Amino acid sequence: MRTTTLTAARGTAAALTAVLLCAAPVQAAPRSAAAAATRYEAESATIVEGAAESNHSGYSGTGFVNGDNVVGSYVEFTVTAATAGTGRIAIRHSNGTTADRSADIAVGGTVVSAARTFATTADWDTWATSTLTTPLKAGTNKIRLTSTTADGLPNLDYLDVTVTPSDTEAPTAPGQPTCTGVTENSITLNWTASTDDVGVAAYDIYEHGNKFGEAPGTATTKNLTGLAPGTTYNLTLFARDAAGNVSSVSPIVDCTTLRSDDTTAPSAPGTLSASDLTANGVVLKWGAATDDKGVTAYEVRSGSTVYKTVTGTPPATTTTLTGLACASPYTLDIVAEDAAGNVSPPSNAVTFTTPACATDGGVPSGITTVSTGWSIPWGTYWMPDGKTALVTERDSFKVFRATADGARTEVGSVPEAVMTNGEGGLLGVAVDPKWSTNHRVYFMHTASEGNRIARMTYDGSSLGGYEVLLRGIKKSRYHNGGRLAFGPDGYLYASTGEAQTPDLAQDKDSLNGKILRMTTDGGPAPGNPFGNHVYSYGHRNPQGLAFDRNGRLWEAEFGDSKKDELNLIEPGKNYGWPICEGSCTTSGMTNPKKTWNISEASPSGIAIVRNVIYMAALKGERLWRVPITGDTENLGTPSAYYVGTYGRLRTVTEVPGRDQLWLSTTNCDNKGNEPDGSDKLFRVSIT
Ligand code: GCU
Ligand code: CA
Repeated sequence: MRTTTLTAARGTAAALTAVLLCAAPVQAAPRSAAAAATRYEAESATIVEGAAESNHSGYSGTGFVNGDNVVGSYVEFTVTAATAGTGRIAIRHSNGTTADRSADIAVGGTVVSAARTFATTADWDTWATSTLTTPLKAGTNKIRLTSTTADGLPNLDYLDVTVTPSDTEAPTAPGQPTCTGVTENSITLNWTASTDDVGVAAYDIYEHGNKFGEAPGTATTKNLTGLAPGTTYNLTLFARDAAGNVSSVSPIVDCTTLRSDDTTAPSAPGTLSASDLTANGVVLKWGAATDDKGVTAYEVRSGSTVYKTVTGTPPATTTTLTGLACASPYTLDIVAEDAAGNVSPPSNAVTFTTPACATDGGVPSGITTVSTGWSIPWGTYWMPDGKTALVTERDSFKVFRATADGARTEVGSVPEAVMTNGEGGLLGVAVDPKWSTNHRVYFMHTASEGNRIARMTYDGSSLGGYEVLLRGIKKSRYHNGGRLAFGPDGYLYASTGEAQTPDLAQDKDSLNGKILRMTTDGGPAPGNPFGNHVYSYGHRNPQGLAFDRNGRLWEAEFGDSKKDELNLIEPGKNYGWPICEGSCTTSGMTNPKKTWNISEASPSGIAIVRNVIYMAALKGERLWRVPITGDTENLGTPSAYYVGTYGRLRTVTEVPGRDQLWLSTTNCDNKGNEPDGSDKLFRVSIT
């Protein structure tokens, strides 16, 4: 299950180890050979202010079109393209007058050639051909020639149209990367070049799910600088072409920077004091530490859990710590760090209890382990009766029935599911609101060709059937989204990642980087804003979906390197990625209602209980509580629970009718590095 077998702890000796994983097969999209032209006769086109005639010679087909000699007479051709691509359009005309004629040429209502000249051809029996190239979309394209002067159109015989498909073939995966030239702060990454039918435009370098660097398409090496000493980096590459097609992932290399020869830790920070205590925050001040090479950061800690890292040159010696839980005891201290990762002794500790909680909405009041022995449980969805839940496991593709007291039974597995050696696999699950009569359940999972949404039957004890409702959601090693939820409108909502192809998030015709809304048969739900499956767009990797008591849809998504987002989703809105990450002022973008640094969140599932949003954080290893302010669209002050206590938190779900949450971990993946079977489900009481 774990894909990374060697992850050296910070501070261990350098170890350069390549771990070869089975790369997914390269998908070669079919490309058509040089296509023959398709002829569209003018006399068969739509003619407005004109007529088909045959009183001259030399035409093709049964005649030609004589447009009325007025401004605005037009002929409209319906041109079909099998794929999107570049259209080469040859126009055959005659013009028996001595004056040139002119027409606007529009494709799909957009003029692509304004007042184009159709020169005299000496007489009406002599024909000339001129060509124009313009992008055509797959399917139907309306091409209209409209006269722009009172002389009217030339006589039109036909259009010959050739479509050269756009580049749809992705480069091959880059070969096994290696690291050379390792220093304390840098490594040189080397790889074998990808190939592409058109050309590799660039390589994207990833460290786990985050983009780490970029190299031009001609490069097979990249110097990575600014790294931490004695630290292991889990690196892969993707190649992309100018058309935005992205290759499969390269094999992985784990590279560890040299341990620093600086072994002198900073001095302990000076006296720590706490002031301005509120239910969810406190101001901390301490004295500066000293170091022979310089202090690079202070960490605010509770035990060994880091609550906040303060950086800067030099780092500040005061900070406002936010996100504290109300009515909760805290004991905090400060340590100083240098660039080599040497950690000072702690400052004195400060101890305080945050003031009482606001009464509205409840707060987590107790957590108990409800079930153990799981390996990456991903989706949890309660049956309509609230007595049992279905829980998926990402990498085993198994589905379990769990009772409210945590007893679990395997009920089957989802066929045709595959892993991506990253974040793909069996992901979200949803139960039909009409399950008691139709026994339908829904899964989102990765398959050979991409991510799918599928429907199965579940009779209360075992899964059966398997029907794909939606395919064509691109997959990648990371960024597969995966959450499913039924809305109060009875339609199925799904969150899809941009498959590490950021531009897909802005393409309203792509299923990636979206919130989708569909019928239980997999069709676009009626009333969707663009007439397809897309409900909202501009998402990077959304994994949290939940509806509030006013029927509003909230969504959590992973940012890249700057900000994670909690969004209020409205149909047709653009949530910004990749133009904006977090909040921005670009017009047309809808900003998040809250953002977090990725180290403090990296959110997957969300759930809403008593008008409070709970958000499970992976990297942040905490459960965020974010109250909705009454029945408004505003959010109150976030507070965090269980920081660093249970590891990486994946999914939080409301237990129907009980003022309880279920919470699950993802600790036995290649980021948590715990053994298989070490993930857990917890019950959280809200009072
Ligand atoms: C003549 C000719 C027509 C032509 C027209 C024109 O009538 O026979 O084919 O369309 O001139 O000037 O447009
Ligand atoms: Ca005419």
